[in-house]
Amino acid sequence: MKQVAFGISVCVVLILVVGAVQAASDGLESMVKPSYDEEGALRVPTDYREWVFVGASLGLSYSEEIKREGPGRFHHVYMQPEAYRQYRDEGTFPEKTMLVMENYSAGSKENPNLHGHFEDKRVGLEVALKDSDQFEDGWAYFNFTAAKGFRQTAKAFPKAACYDCHAEHAQDDNVFVQFYPILREAK
Ligand code: HEC
Repeated sequence: MKQVAFGISVCVVLILVVGAVQAASDGLESMVKPSYDEEGALRVPTDYREWVFVGASLGLSYSEEIKREGPGRFHHVYMQPEAYRQYRDEGTFPEKTMLVMENYSAGSKENPNLHGHFEDKRVGLEVALKDSDQFEDGWAYFNFTAAKGFRQTAKAFPKAACYDCHAEHAQDDNVFVQFYPILREAK
């Protein structure tokens, strides 16, 4: 009798596990995927402001050459909700994860008695994308910022320009999880 009960509980656990894995992969089907043009350039993701906002930073840089006045730029990072859920539930970034980073210049009030900074002009738009079907190293990096405004498509940078610093300094799978409270808490 005990054996039957044990057998049943093992089955129940298996069904639950299979169900959970199934639910996670079902969720990924509806995820916004990267779109490429004929030359393999990435099209700029459009509705990323409806994605999960994972964190912001101010004036952050690993480049020692950049020394500037003022607080530097605000960075906002968004990722697809489905990719976020997989990271929260399984601790991994699924294939086709996109992290979109918007940069804003820091403004300040002209009245010197009013302290602090606000986000002024949008000055940058960059994307980190995990797509092993397209890129040998898995992650690839794109900059949609143009001299005037933003471009609609962008080619992946060579490895030394972006990937290497991410691989060396980012906490988890090339992503700077250490700076994004929503991902830190999800772990
Ligand atoms: C010298 C180090 C360094 C280099 C080189 C670098 N990054 Fe980053 N990157 C960072 C740091 C630090 C962050 C953390 C978030 C922030 O800056 O607010 C980051 C975050 C990002 C993010 C947000 C998602 C993530 O992976 O955490 C994107 C998108 C991004 N970088 C794009 C690029 C692109 C495009 C290039 C190449 C043109 C590049 N990066 C080169 C240091 C680097």
